[in-house]
Amino acid sequence: MNWAEGYGIVANPDIFSDGFIPDRILARDVQIRELQFCLSPILKRRKPIHAWLYGRSGTGKTTIAKYLLGKIQSEAHVRGTYVNCWEKNTFYAILQEILNNLRVLCTEERNTGLKLEEVRKHINDDFFILILDEIDTLPLKERNTTLYNLCNVGNIALICIGESQFPLLALEDRVRSRLNPQIIDFPQYASDDLVRILRQRAEMGLAPDAWSHKILERIAELCEREARIAIYTLRSAANLAESDYSRFIENKHIEKGFNNIKDLKRVYALKSLTEHHQILYHLIREWRGIISKELWNRYLERCKEEKHVPVAKRTFDHYLSQLVRLRLIESKRARVRGKVHLFKVLS
Ligand SMILES: Nc1ncnc2c1ncn2[C@@H]1O[C@H](COP(=O)(O)OP(=O)(O)O)[C@@H](O)[C@H]1O
Ligand SMILES: [Mg+2]
Repeated sequence: MNWAEGYGIVANPDIFSDGFIPDRILARDVQIRELQFCLSPILKRRKPIHAWLYGRSGTGKTTIAKYLLGKIQSEAHVRGTYVNCWEKNTFYAILQEILNNLRVLCTEERNTGLKLEEVRKHINDDFFILILDEIDTLPLKERNTTLYNLCNVGNIALICIGESQFPLLALEDRVRSRLNPQIIDFPQYASDDLVRILRQRAEMGLAPDAWSHKILERIAELCEREARIAIYTLRSAANLAESDYSRFIENKHIEKGFNNIKDLKRVYALKSLTEHHQILYHLIREWRGIISKELWNRYLERCKEEKHVPVAKRTFDHYLSQLVRLRLIESKRARVRGKVHLFKVLS
C-alpha cells in the first residue's frame, strides 16, 4: 500500500462529475426514442419537431438532451448549442449566449432586435438544435418572448427542459400553438435502475475490488431515485474510504458521504446565487416561518443595514421561487385569507 495516497479507490474522478456523459445511457430507452423521433426529420432535410422534456431533478433530462445533440452533431454535421436559462435569464442573454457559443463576434450594443437578427443571419435557413435547459426558471414574459421568436428561426429544433409541464401551459396561446412540442416525461428511476447507473460509474471510475453490489443498493435506497445525488454519494463514500485507508467502501462511508452531499448541495446552491438570495435565505432561517409581506419588510431593512440596493419586488418574488426550486426553502399557503405564503427553510 502507498500510505501517501491510501489504497487509491477512485481510479478516475472525472467519471463522477455532473457534466460527464456516458457512452451508454441506461434505463431511458423510451425517452431517447421519443427525442430521436423529434430530431430525425433533420436527417431527411425536413423540419424537426420541438420537444418539451420534463421531470424532477436527477432524472437524466440534461444528459439525454446533450447526448443526442452530440450524436446528431457528429453523425449528421448539424449545428446546435446548449443554453441554461437559469444562468441566462432574459431573452437578450439567451441570444448573446447562442452567439457566444457560435463564436460570433458582435457589437456590444444592448439591442434585442439586433441580436435576434444576428442569430437569424448565422443560423440562416440551416437546421439547428437549441437546448433551452431549466426553461421554467425564465420569468413568464421572457419565456413567451424567447419561444415566440426562436420558434421560427431557420429550421430550428427547440429542446425545452423543465421540472413540469406547467411552464408550458402558462405560455400565451399563440406561443404554445407555435411551439406545439412533443412532450416527453422523465419519471423517477426505479431503485434497480439506479443501481445499474451506479454500477456503470463504479466500473468506470473505481478500483474493481473496492465496491460491491450491496453497497450500490444501499446508496440507491438512501438517494430516493435521484441519480445525481446517488453518483455524488458514491464518489464521496469512495473518497472517505480512501482517507480512512480502507480497502473497500463500507456502510459507514456511505452514510457519512450521503450526509456530506446533503450539506454540500445547500452550500453550493447558495454560493452560486446572488447576495440577495443569501440575505433572503438567512432571514427565512432566522425567522423559522415568515410570511411574504413580513419577509419583504425585513429584507428592505437588512439591505439598508448592509448598504445594498434592494431588488424590485418582482425580482424578490423571482428569487424566492428560485430558492424553492433549489429546495433550500419551502413555500406554503399561510392560514390567512388571500394569497399569503409562508416560507420556511428546508432541512
Ligand atoms: N440514464 C442514465 N444513465 C447514466 N447516467 C445517468 C442517467 N440519468 C442520469 N444520469 C447521471 O445522473 C446525473 C444527473 O443527470 P441529469 O441529466 O443532470 O439530470 P436532470 O437534468 O434531470 O436533473 C448526471 O451525472 C448524469 O450523468
Ligand atoms: Mg438538468
